[in-house]
Amino acid sequence: MRARSIVLSCLAVVLALLTVPLLAADDGAALYKKNCVKCHGDQGKGDGPAAKLLKNQSMGDLSSKAEMSKLSDDTLHKMVAEGGQAVGKSKVMPAHKDKLSEAEIKAVIAYIKTLQK
Ligand code: HEC
Repeated sequence: MRARSIVLSCLAVVLALLTVPLLAADDGAALYKKNCVKCHGDQGKGDGPAAKLLKNQSMGDLSSKAEMSKLSDDTLHKMVAEGGQAVGKSKVMPAHKDKLSEAEIKAVIAYIKTLQK
């Protein structure tokens, strides 16, 4: 009985360890949906519902490799954490450092890189 419960708890630990990286990978997509889609749109083209209200404001194009390759990882991080203004861009791009943890900011940046074509 005892041996069996030890085996079961080991199995639970192994399963938990296996699912952590999977969740982290999914997280980026979920975080993007929750925090960024309203402006940047599903594909990162800058056509989210809020973009329609901000007609004259360009949101950039997160799906453009040419455009995104101009931004270093540091700049991306600073933009997401501290907002567009921190890197001399529009203040309409909000700061997220009070909403997202360091790990979440990294996850969402990793996700937006997957949008590039
Ligand atoms: C309220 C609308 C809004 C939200 C929400 C928003 N952004 Fe932005 N974002 C902008 C605007 C506007 C710009 C363009 C700033 C500029 O070019 O001056 C921008 C620019 C960017 C850029 C640079 C694009 C480029 O081509 O220069 C990145 C990267 C970015 N946002 C990532 C994110 C991420 C990641 C999130 C979610 C965590 C997010 N944004 C949430 C409005 C928003």
